[in-house]
Amino acid sequence: MLAVVNCSQVVTLGGARRPRVGAEISEIYIIEGGARVVRGGRVEKVGTRVEIEPLIDSDCEVVDAGARVVLPGFVDAHAHPVFAGTRADEYEERARGATYQEIAARGGGIRSTVRRTREATLDDLVRAGKRYAEWILRTGTTTVEAKSGYGLTTEDELKILRAVRRLNEETPLQFVPTFLGAHDMPDEYRSRREEYIKLLTEEMLPRVAAERLAEYCDAFCEERVFTLDESRKILEAARSLGLGLRLHADQLTLSGGAHLAAELRAATADHLEHTDTSGIKALKAAGVQPVLLPGSVYALGSSRYPQAREMIENGLAVVLATDFNPGSSPTPSVPMILSLASTHMKMTPAESLTAATINAAYSLGRGNEVGSIEEGKRADFVIHDCMDYREVAYFFGVEHAHEVFVGGRRVFRRDRPANIQDNG
Ligand code: NIG
Ligand code: FE
Repeated sequence: MLAVVNCSQVVTLGGARRPRVGAEISEIYIIEGGARVVRGGRVEKVGTRVEIEPLIDSDCEVVDAGARVVLPGFVDAHAHPVFAGTRADEYEERARGATYQEIAARGGGIRSTVRRTREATLDDLVRAGKRYAEWILRTGTTTVEAKSGYGLTTEDELKILRAVRRLNEETPLQFVPTFLGAHDMPDEYRSRREEYIKLLTEEMLPRVAAERLAEYCDAFCEERVFTLDESRKILEAARSLGLGLRLHADQLTLSGGAHLAAELRAATADHLEHTDTSGIKALKAAGVQPVLLPGSVYALGSSRYPQAREMIENGLAVVLATDFNPGSSPTPSVPMILSLASTHMKMTPAESLTAATINAAYSLGRGNEVGSIEEGKRADFVIHDCMDYREVAYFFGVEHAHEVFVGGRRVFRRDRPANIQDNG
């Protein structure tokens, strides 16, 4: 048994057992001076100090939070964390004025990561993935989605998903795997697109489903990548094999992706920087959750953030995620995303927190398991080094996570602070 005491705030995100919409997005349930006990890796009870103290017995491990804030572990519902190499060279080129699309058009971008990922072994990918898993955990995320999509051959896509499976087994971070074989048209299929769609639907997807390597299927629906019709074919094939659906939609242009996600009743439509009012209404009518990725807007140097306020006002169960990847969003940090959401999308800190915890958990089919600190849920929580939960986003660029717990077990502790003396 584990007891966590002396918290300045425990923000539980408790409430309705479904994705939060409308005014509920702001109702995060703060217990000032709260505490909680964990047994068998699950939350047994959360409440005020007075409610919890009688439950603490002599063999209980007591964690003193030091008057810090406790939040549920972040759930990052859109990420591409398994890839080889980096694209620091393209980052410099973009700083010198080249655009993401220009770089992609001449064979860089996603395709340059594909070349390197194809050359990498499974062990290479696991090694790189462990480095990123550590970054992800130490920013306070305990569950992360992991998309394939840098292989684009059957064996290389399976290799990435097998790396995700190993990362799930070999690290404390919890991964939710998504097949994204439709991330880009591989060079060798550029003049015979239909054959690649066939390979996706008739070979890759059945193998992924048979080996249970993914829970979701995603596609990059964009004028120059996969058309609406191609994306529809791929996602319909995935659905018939029992996979849930997600879609990269309306990221660079208004291409009808939100409407397609609505038509297919996908779990999520992601990006949505260009989605208009009719797309937002279609998502609402179909119960699709929007996953907003301001890290990629920021890192691409754009100012076209998605219309989060309009989505919230229309009753959508908004999710925020990092889109962690080597090109358009090289950050694993949910706190950075919370900062961007408040500053550029005018989401309040409470709305952003809901979007990156409980709503994100529901979007990944994990709403009954994680995303809030509630009785019976897995004890995934983080002690952040601040007094007020809003500081997590407000002081941006700082890693606030002080101790990270997954299933009631401590997996990270920042125990070596810089030795700064008070000489005043
Ligand atoms: O979500 N939009 C497509 N895929 C990624 C970018 C991946 C990359 O640049 O490597 C995204 O932004
Ligand atoms: Fe993405």
